[in-house]
Amino acid sequence: MDDQTWARTPIEPQSANAPLSTAAIFLVVTITDGAEAATTARGVISDLGGLVRTVGFRDLAGHLSCNVGIGAAAWQRFEQQSKPAQLDRFHAIPGFAHTAPATPGDLLFHIRAERADQCFELERLLLGKLGTAVTVVDEVQGFRYFDSRDLLGFVDGTENPTGASMMQSSLIGDEDQEFSGGSYVVVQKYLHDLTAWATLSTEQQEAIIGRTKADNVELDDDDAPRKSHKALNTIVDENGVEHDILRDNMPFGRPGQGEFGTYFIGYARNLWVIDHMLRRMFIGDPVGDYDRILDFSTAVTGSTYFVPSNDLLESLAPDA
Ligand code: HEM
Repeated sequence: MDDQTWARTPIEPQSANAPLSTAAIFLVVTITDGAEAATTARGVISDLGGLVRTVGFRDLAGHLSCNVGIGAAAWQRFEQQSKPAQLDRFHAIPGFAHTAPATPGDLLFHIRAERADQCFELERLLLGKLGTAVTVVDEVQGFRYFDSRDLLGFVDGTENPTGASMMQSSLIGDEDQEFSGGSYVVVQKYLHDLTAWATLSTEQQEAIIGRTKADNVELDDDDAPRKSHKALNTIVDENGVEHDILRDNMPFGRPGQGEFGTYFIGYARNLWVIDHMLRRMFIGDPVGDYDRILDFSTAVTGSTYFVPSNDLLESLAPDA
């Protein structure tokens, strides 16, 4: 696709593989008790594509996109006959030193655009439609930081799968036919202690991440005494097959409040792959040798969702 066509092409609704953007909003809500609220929520999300077009069409070069993820408890309330095979709530992972907490969330909205105002406007209209049917439990505005660095100073996202392998690792296939084209998504909000991180030398930081800081080159650290973040998150099964996920982490922060964070978001065809990564990070491999990124980054939220394909999302309309 040439640049001009790209600038004028809206992004398909519910695209896990929407391009990395300069701005994003991560909005997590719970659905109010009662059948009426669940029906309202179903109605609003089934027409999410219309709302994205309403805002996105005002500047197609903004590439506005929004994915909605539905949590396991909410899925049950939507009275569907079947459920995505691996959909489950997020289970807390208590490690020896650090814990990945599980926090509430029925719906996740992952809003991305090249313009922060488009993200804002979509969120405003969306929450207006949802009204009292939901309560906002977390809202984070992320931004792209220089060459896609996180606030620890490292380029984040390099080893994301691309092309066919991106679809292969992020979209459910024929193994769960009714839900094919959908995706599982896990989000976690991390807060960094940048003062403590700054006391480490660049070499120490690089050993923790597994890549060089300035030029982002992967370290040859197979023989390192303790596994890096990169090594812990490289998942190879007993047949030698590597399992990837699609990440679109975003930095966020309020320097005036001393808040500096990374919002982790991972899309996967198989939820077990993300679960495995988290266990290796928090429990360690070998057990006890957890990811040292956690000594400087505290997970304060954690929740899991199923992102249906657009057709399935539309079919959730109460009157469909
Ligand atoms: C790689 C940062 C949390 C999964 C990386 C890299 C950085 C990074 C800088 C190296 C560049 C790249 O390939 O992207 C962070 C930060 C986190 C965080 C700042 C939060 C504080 C997580 C979590 C997971 C994860 C929670 C999974 C559950 C991965 C994976 C890779 C990676 C799969 C690529 C490994 C490879 O194949 O080389 N991360 N990450 N990250 N991270 Fe994270």
